[in-house]
Amino acid sequence: MGMKLVFLHGAGCSSLSFYYQLRHFRSAKAIDLPGHPDGKPCDTVDGYLEWVRGFIRARRYKNVVLCGHSMGGAIAMSYALKYPEELRGLILLGTGARLRVHPNYLQRCLESGEDKAPWLAQHMDYYREVQEEVFPVLKHRAAEVGPAVELNDLMACDRFDIMDRVAEIKLPTRVICGSDDVMTPVKYSDFLASNIEGAGKSVIPGGSHFVHMEKFQQVNEEIEGFLATFK
Ligand code: COA
Repeated sequence: MGMKLVFLHGAGCSSLSFYYQLRHFRSAKAIDLPGHPDGKPCDTVDGYLEWVRGFIRARRYKNVVLCGHSMGGAIAMSYALKYPEELRGLILLGTGARLRVHPNYLQRCLESGEDKAPWLAQHMDYYREVQEEVFPVLKHRAAEVGPAVELNDLMACDRFDIMDRVAEIKLPTRVICGSDDVMTPVKYSDFLASNIEGAGKSVIPGGSHFVHMEKFQQVNEEIEGFLATFK
């Protein structure tokens, strides 16, 4: 059965986050959420979910497997809770059922004035373990998306909490995270895997919150293994 793998990026990021997945999964789609950089961002995870649903339905994608990173994972889980019959599976990458944000992350975005350079330098620090070949394009896109949209997204994450509903997710699910993720620590993935019935979990050694850009071969193998379970 042909599955449609759809990637959803995290706060302040874009479809470029999945550069190494798109090279491998040629028929997959990585969505640029509104405001990233085109259009107006949504101020809640539920707002993004409805926008993503509109995108998917307009293109008549069938047998959709949503792979969401961080805020994208929050969107994917919310989609699964609200419209379970429209999805075939979930891949939850560096995410959690509750995504409280440390005030320092919000402050960095708030403090960015005319000179966006300090904010941009800190944003690029997220990618310090990523191969340098993608830095120029990531930097260009980050500047286009900008601190106001990152702040908007982080605030949407901060309000996200489905800790008491996550067990209602009944879709085939694979949870993936980096062992060294400090933004969404392994315990967040442990919680997801132990509360979603039948969910598998893979912790990638040495990976950070951006494990899919760092240890992309391992992450791609995990995704491929999960997709193979549908055949
Ligand atoms: N899954 C499982 N457990 C979770 C969880 C999740 N998604 N979210 C929170 N918890 C746990 C915490 O680990 C904590 O457990 P503990 O009491 O055993 O230590 C408890 O629930 C309460 O945590 P939290 O709601 O996060 O509040 P807090 O006041 O302890 O900490 C922060 C707030 C922001 C400092 C903290 O959430 C944090 O460091 N977050 C990660 C960094 C970040 O900002 N990430 C950005 C995500 S986009």
